[in-house]
Amino acid sequence: MSKKNIIFVLGIATMVFMLSQGWVFAADEKIKPLKPVPKAYANKHMPRGWWTDLKIIKEGELIFHTTVLEYEFKRKKRMAKEGCSTCHGIDPKKDRPKKRGSPDFRISERVNRFSDSYWFWRIFEGVAKTRMPAWKEKLSEEDIWKVIAYQHTWSHGNKPAEHDHKEIEHSVEKR
Ligand code: HEC
Repeated sequence: MSKKNIIFVLGIATMVFMLSQGWVFAADEKIKPLKPVPKAYANKHMPRGWWTDLKIIKEGELIFHTTVLEYEFKRKKRMAKEGCSTCHGIDPKKDRPKKRGSPDFRISERVNRFSDSYWFWRIFEGVAKTRMPAWKEKLSEEDIWKVIAYQHTWSHGNKPAEHDHKEIEHSVEKR
């Protein structure tokens, strides 16, 4: 093979690899398998009736858009000035979450898999080594359920809905 052909073949191989890794399109929207929920959170459940309670959802909306939190990322102190929407809010021009790497909660394939315990755990403790901060010192358990009830409407055309999906992954850590 000539040098030119080798470079061509390597170029194609690199492109195929990047596409398969989701590096080129929709890098943020790769839907990964969920981590198992730690045992301590296995019994955390949405209070009865809250998924569709309009008053609760309204309170969750306020928390989602206004809670201020100081957090650390890459060893620097930062501020989430507009609550969860600082990162998960939708950038109106780009039609994607404001901060890179923040999941888009409008995508039902993602959200339909979350058990309530998984959802609670991720917000309570945050996700280590990512921008997602822990909210346990800022929000009460009730606040977290309210915010979840609100966030859930995003994957249902912004309407309240029960969270009954066959895809829900209930896996809990052994030990
Ligand atoms: C500073 C940016 C930032 C803020 C503020 C933030 N998040 Fe996140 N969030 C992220 C990122 C980044 C991830 C993805 C972490 C990962 O890679 O697993 C994430 C992940 C999540 C997940 C897990 C999604 C999954 O697929 O496992 C949930 C649930 C979540 N956020 C809810 C919230 C809620 C509710 C709030 C507000 C109380 C909030 N986030 C505030 C950046 C943020």
